[in-house]
Amino acid sequence: TIVKISDDALARAAGADKLAAAFEKKGCEVHRVSSWGMHWLEPLVEVDGKGFGPATLADVDAILDGSSDKGIGEIAAHPFIAGQMRFTFARAGKTRPLSLEDYEATGGWAGLKRARAIGAGAIVEEVKTSGLRGRGGAGFPTGIKWDTVRKAEADQKYIVCNADEGDSGTFADRAVMEGDPFALIEGMAIAGEAVGATRGYVYLRSEYPDAIRKMNAAVELCADIIAPFVMEIRVGAGAYVCGEETSLLNSLEGKRGEVRAKPPLPALEGFLGKPTVVNNVLSLAAVPHILTEGGAEAYKDIGFGRSRGTMPIQLAGNIKHGGLYEVGFGVTLGELVNDIGGGTASGRPVKAVQVGGPLGAYIHPDQFDIVFDYETFTAADALIGHAGVTVFDDTADMLGMARFAMEFCAEESCGKCTPCRIGAVRGVEIIDRIAAGGRERDVIELAPQMHNTVKDRGRTVADEVELLTDLCETMKFGSLCALGGFTPYPVMSALKHWPEEFGQK
Ligand code: NAI
Ligand code: SF4
Repeated sequence: TIVKISDDALARAAGADKLAAAFEKKGCEVHRVSSWGMHWLEPLVEVDGKGFGPATLADVDAILDGSSDKGIGEIAAHPFIAGQMRFTFARAGKTRPLSLEDYEATGGWAGLKRARAIGAGAIVEEVKTSGLRGRGGAGFPTGIKWDTVRKAEADQKYIVCNADEGDSGTFADRAVMEGDPFALIEGMAIAGEAVGATRGYVYLRSEYPDAIRKMNAAVELCADIIAPFVMEIRVGAGAYVCGEETSLLNSLEGKRGEVRAKPPLPALEGFLGKPTVVNNVLSLAAVPHILTEGGAEAYKDIGFGRSRGTMPIQLAGNIKHGGLYEVGFGVTLGELVNDIGGGTASGRPVKAVQVGGPLGAYIHPDQFDIVFDYETFTAADALIGHAGVTVFDDTADMLGMARFAMEFCAEESCGKCTPCRIGAVRGVEIIDRIAAGGRERDVIELAPQMHNTVKDRGRTVADEVELLTDLCETMKFGSLCALGGFTPYPVMSALKHWPEEFGQK
């Protein structure tokens, strides 16, 4: 009997390794595959296409003799899978991540072969046709970025993959690197072909040991296939701001991870001052499919407005059915949270949903008809970001969450610009004063080093809220990068939708 069990970090954390060993002991041939992305069912065991999960050691015999009550039927037909459009994650759950044989048997390298046949200019045209936009969060058209690098004149160019997936509740980059590493490598090799770059680097966060191990192994296994393109995996050191592209480049060069002012754009002066494509894992992993015959057109035909193709959405936080849901743009937040995600794991009402990481806006259930689309989210003062959807139930403390955003920014600030470096510290203090009910109390006690002027005393909560709003404006428009610039989103959205928690009526 062939038994498939994922070797993804999440499945392993849930006990997949022991389970795999137990099935082997029973004489089964165990294939360690990528995860289907139904996290609440991990470790998920697949026998003859049928799934059982979450499985424990006590379930092994029953799964093999057909008497298990953990069966979910045919995995591919499960509503969570059947409702998706899997392009980037077409292989999820199906292939062994480091098997070149499995990769080739499922269309691997077809995009690279075609890319080499059609040449640089045509590759860029294909990517433009697909409408692919940067999946790291900013949504900049990938084809235009590649064109800028392609047209730049230089003796050396680079492809840098941003795998510093730091947003809370996100795991899609990890899922690609652990589950389908050759797809990312193929995407990078295609990018190299498109712009004339011979070297590629993956900047991978240190918190992803499994991904680091698998990416290193994968690069070694396919070195001959991607040659003359050469790839290297570089491990970050745990700073959130190193996910910002210029800070990442500094770190990659061995410098302090501090943000560089733009211009110059990395596309023109990036790694070591040379033209560099910096793309997120998901953007690059989408490319092999796009480059297959007819792939770009098929990709373009899916989506909503100017957001074309699919987005691997990550459902996390207090949610019943958390996991990876790749679907065309245009799905509503309500469908994702309630229909697909099944509401909260706690069974309590949903209070808020944060989309786009720790610096994304908190969305109120009243706005659940909002559709996943870059422009729609921007118009609602929110952001899609890396498409992490984190659900909170009615016990969430929204003032506490606003404070967390400011605290996070103060902690992670690179220190280069004032609105972020100082603003975030001031933001924490203001929120603390709002929580304390204004400054009728002695403010010196709350922030001794800063509020030493008598005139600071005796201000009302309303005064503090006004000051917080003003500070957020300054941070939003005055910060050099998205860290300081986006911190106001969670703060202002919490204040707007739950004013009573900020002492407002
Ligand atoms: P940005 O809008 O400044 O730039 C987007 C990209 O387009 C950059 O790579 C930039 O170099 C490039 N670009 C802009 N104009 C160009 C041109 N004319 N030619 C060629 N390339 C050009 O946004 P930024 O600061 O890079 O990213 C902000 C986003 O990062 C936010 O939307 C946020 O959601 C996201 N983010 C993602 C995280 C994650 O873990 N994936 C973590 C934190 C933030
Ligand atoms: Fe650095 Fe913050 Fe300014 Fe970004 S906004 S450059 S992280 S100080």
